[in-house]
Amino acid sequence: MIKSLRNQLIVALGLLVSVIGVIQGVSSYQLCRNGMGALLDLRMEQVAARMRDGFAEGIPAIVARGSQDARDIVLTVWKADSDAPFRSTDPSLLLPRTAPDGFTTSTVNGEAWRIYTLQQPATTIQVAQRLSVRRDLEEATATKTLWPILVLLPLVWIAVALVVQRSLRELNRLGSEVQAIDAGHLQPLPTVGVPAELDPFIHSINRMIERLAQSIDAERKFIDDAAHELRTPLTALQLQADNLQRDIAPGNQERFRELRAGIARSGSLITQLLRLARADAPLNGGALARVDVAAVVRGAVADVLPIALQRGLDIGAQEMVSAHVRAIEADIGIAVRNLIGNAVRYTPDGGTIDLRMRLVDRMVCVEVIDTGPGIDEAVLPRVFDRFFRANSDIEGSGLGLSIVKAIAVRYGGSVALENRDDGPTGIVVGICFPVEEEGLGE
Ligand SMILES: Nc1ncnc2c1ncn2[C@@H]1O[C@H](COP(=O)(O)OP(=O)(O)O)[C@@H](O)[C@H]1O
Ligand SMILES: [Mg+2]
Repeated sequence: MIKSLRNQLIVALGLLVSVIGVIQGVSSYQLCRNGMGALLDLRMEQVAARMRDGFAEGIPAIVARGSQDARDIVLTVWKADSDAPFRSTDPSLLLPRTAPDGFTTSTVNGEAWRIYTLQQPATTIQVAQRLSVRRDLEEATATKTLWPILVLLPLVWIAVALVVQRSLRELNRLGSEVQAIDAGHLQPLPTVGVPAELDPFIHSINRMIERLAQSIDAERKFIDDAAHELRTPLTALQLQADNLQRDIAPGNQERFRELRAGIARSGSLITQLLRLARADAPLNGGALARVDVAAVVRGAVADVLPIALQRGLDIGAQEMVSAHVRAIEADIGIAVRNLIGNAVRYTPDGGTIDLRMRLVDRMVCVEVIDTGPGIDEAVLPRVFDRFFRANSDIEGSGLGLSIVKAIAVRYGGSVALENRDDGPTGIVVGICFPVEEEGLGE
């Protein structure tokens, strides 16, 4: 059972054409053989008619033995008054004189002959030809009719393959477009230039994409609203706690500090949730600007420098390149800060964090390389999942990398994270954005 539609079509059409070709070949071979036989018969009849018209005397009375070619026809004329042939082009061949009028087949001298007999009152005229000679002639001519088909059949197979391939190209293109659909890329499939047969598919896929986009958007809006609603009471809570601090008995200060830290953690979780919901939202032509990526990187490094100094971390930005990205400036800042923040958080005191910028294929990439513990390969594919945390000793929300990824996708970029393979433990994480060409935009 062939699974591919393309191969099914090629084989089915190819076999069909081949069967037609074989039938055509066999019938033209047969027709040609029969036609050749009829022609040879006609010639024998004509020769006999000539003999009847008095040409028999033209044959020499004595014929040299062996002077006749095996392919020639043999002529014998009998007269009523004699038992021996009156004339014969091959006296050694004694044809059956009493054969009936018309065509017969007889074995004479150990060979099969086709004989035409013309019985007349005073003479009997016989014309004979070896059956083997006739067969050879018929077959040689009929075989020639097979050549065109033999040459054409492989060409037809190739043509069938090309035509099928061409017709299914749209289907393949559609397949790869459907494959590219994911939560970050929910564009409807194009309907122009697509074969009519595919229309119903495309329309139902497009309806599905639309529903999917709507429900993803509804979920995002819910998170956005919920985080927003939670923020106000939490801010109030924080204020109340700040005011209460003076009234807390010294023995309870430690527990009260924990309570405040808990409130602060909830606050930052809500901030992260809001950021994720915003990063997931479609751009809709928001306030895009020409963002200088190197400046963002320098700013992010400056922000963490005090903590890094305090913890003896060597943080440095080398290999900076000048590149701009068309984006909301805060987004690029959040993405880069999240990556640097992770590196600072997970790298032990005294470690090294390197920042690098590169231009690759019209993309500008920011790489953060640390000397932290790295991430277990088994969970590496899940680090971009929401709320996934590989290291529960250190506090975090598990949303940072999800936000980074949402921002990369939002601007048609990409993010990749892997363990270092150059000696020390640690990770290399890189985020890339399409470069805004000089002169575009304002
Ligand atoms: N630079 C890093 N070194 C080691 N582990 C990291 C690094 N960055 C991220 N991780 C791991 O990936 C998980 C997900 O990261 P992230 O989404 O930023 O959430 P979190 O709020 O926990 O930092 C983290 O919990 C951590 O275990
Ligand atoms: Mg993080």
